[in-house]
Amino acid sequence: MKELSLIKTRNVKEADKLIDYLLNRPKTEMVGLGLIYGPPGLGKSRFAKQKAIMEDYIYLRLEANMTAKSFAIKLLEVIRYHLGMSQVKIRGTANEIFNRTLNILKNYDNIVIIIDEIDYAFRSQKILGSIRDIVDETLSVVILVGMTDAKEKLLLADSHYFDRCNYFCEFKEITESDIKSICSQISDVKIEDSIIRIIKQKTKGNIRKLIKALYSIETNAKNNNLSVFGIEQLKSLEIM
Ligand SMILES: Nc1ncnc2c1ncn2[C@@H]1O[C@H](COP(=O)(O)OP(=O)(O)OP(=O)(O)O)[C@@H](O)[C@H]1O
Ligand SMILES: [Mg+2]
Repeated sequence: MKELSLIKTRNVKEADKLIDYLLNRPKTEMVGLGLIYGPPGLGKSRFAKQKAIMEDYIYLRLEANMTAKSFAIKLLEVIRYHLGMSQVKIRGTANEIFNRTLNILKNYDNIVIIIDEIDYAFRSQKILGSIRDIVDETLSVVILVGMTDAKEKLLLADSHYFDRCNYFCEFKEITESDIKSICSQISDVKIEDSIIRIIKQKTKGNIRKLIKALYSIETNAKNNNLSVFGIEQLKSLEIM
């Protein structure tokens, strides 16, 4: 199986539109805040990480036990790293550290910060407030990435603010045409068109499950010296 960093699925194309929209917005009139959300295994984090590598964006993943202070420290660290600034030990209160970050960001107008696992911030008004300040007080684009209910939860947490979120992009089940293109790009075995629909049903349009299924298909094909995989071979595969 070949490893491809970012296959252009329908979701990836839609999320590209979100970034284009926010980068090209009238900066003084609109805040640069967007949200990517959807069920597990559809490629939200893969998109976020790969875009950050490819386009030199800042990628930050929230963690389960993050506090306002550990968030402020991590954010300042990744921003300093991104800008090639020296990494001195970070001291001070959460507010002091966060204000240092804001002051740095105010000097730039094209920084994109992607914050993954935003769901962990829903229980911390302070972290959400800090993100709001970045969006309000700087020209940075901030893209939040979260689970299916992230949109409702953000609005519940702070409706005054987050209904100003300028672009929402929901990741949906991958399409049959995505599956066909993924199979042809990464699989060393030829997957017949006749089984694409079945693969979609079994993997529920989830890329994580699809990759696992393709790995089983390849292993089975290798063990049986097959170069093409069709409906008969699929029947013998337990996971399908
Ligand atoms: N565009 C893509 N190109 C190549 N592989 C992908 C792509 N999207 C997803 N994958 C594969 O699917 C796996 C799951 O994707 P990812 O972790 O990004 O899902 P997620 O939507 O962030 O899920 P969760 O909500 O559980 O965090 C990845 O580890 C990768 O193997
Ligand atoms: Mg993820």
